[in-house]
Amino acid sequence: MRRFILRLQTPNFIQTGRRWSSSRSSLPNKKNEEDNRRQQVMSKGLPKQKPIDGVKQILLVASGKGGVGKSTTSVNLATALKVVAPEKQIGLLDADIFGPTIPLMMNLNQSPLLNENGLMEPLVNYDIKCMSMGFLVDKKSPVIWRGLMVMSALDKLLRHVAWGPLDYLIVDTPPGTGDTLLSLIQNLPINGVVIVTTPQKASLDVARRGAKMFQKLNVPIAGIVENMTSVKCPSCNEHITLFGKGSDALSKELDVVILKKFPLNEETAESGDAGRPIVLAHPNSTQANLYKALAQDVIHFLQRDLT
Ligand SMILES: Nc1ncnc2c1ncn2[C@@H]1O[C@H](COP(=O)(O)OP(=O)(O)OP(=O)(O)O)[C@@H](O)[C@H]1O
Ligand SMILES: [Mg+2]
Ligand SMILES: [Zn+2]
Repeated sequence: MRRFILRLQTPNFIQTGRRWSSSRSSLPNKKNEEDNRRQQVMSKGLPKQKPIDGVKQILLVASGKGGVGKSTTSVNLATALKVVAPEKQIGLLDADIFGPTIPLMMNLNQSPLLNENGLMEPLVNYDIKCMSMGFLVDKKSPVIWRGLMVMSALDKLLRHVAWGPLDYLIVDTPPGTGDTLLSLIQNLPINGVVIVTTPQKASLDVARRGAKMFQKLNVPIAGIVENMTSVKCPSCNEHITLFGKGSDALSKELDVVILKKFPLNEETAESGDAGRPIVLAHPNSTQANLYKALAQDVIHFLQRDLT
């Protein structure tokens, strides 16, 4: 078996990519193709979305603002889904090309193997099949790709991976409502989006823009996850709200439910850094139970599309 290694220093990513791309993938070379594609999405709605072989349902975890807890939500949701529905096959795609964090949070850092069909085998931990740009690039080299290269990398992570069979593919997205998100929406049949936000105005404003974009493009929103809602006082155990209650208003305005609210919690951050999500590291904690309840919400939401 070969291991796939992508070297950023190689002058031409596209040539490197040939080694592990299937013959039918052609890499577009027009500079403004990406712009055209984006305009097409925005004006015409959704052109040909192609399912991923063997993947039943796809759930995006998104937010406008960076650092609000998308990746934390994604890894804990994925592991919680496995806990509450052990019979389901779960995948986790890190669509954050520039700032992949799934390798850290899932404690995975090998290079994927290529199978006999030239597809990358996802790396597996805690029974979750994972794929991330972080598995393919040298962590110390700066990611300098732009535009098309990002789209092509994303395509590799989605379609040149032996994902199946999967019941749920959870997609952790990068901050912003830009190209990556549009490209995902354009190319994949999305069964639901979980919007992560903190209760601050700055985060809510971007979450609102994101949510409106999903609504406009007919991408079903499963609901809002409010993160960092409060912090527990270490001396009296009272919950102190830090950033206000803005998500409630946003939920009404958009007619989108708030699924769960997660407090700021030290073990959550520590578990993420240690590569063992809190759902598994502290399975009986309040936070772990909240993530399991969120997983139930998500299963319930996704069932709509199955019946
Ligand atoms: N509820 C929480 N309690 C404590 N720490 C948290 C919580 N949620 C997230 N964090 C911490 O906040 C930091 C940012 O979280 P995370 O990486 O999940 O955000 P993100 O939205 O994915 O960021 P980016 O936009 O950069 O991808 C991490 O260090 C994470 O451990
Ligand atoms: Mg992230
Ligand atoms: Zn107190």
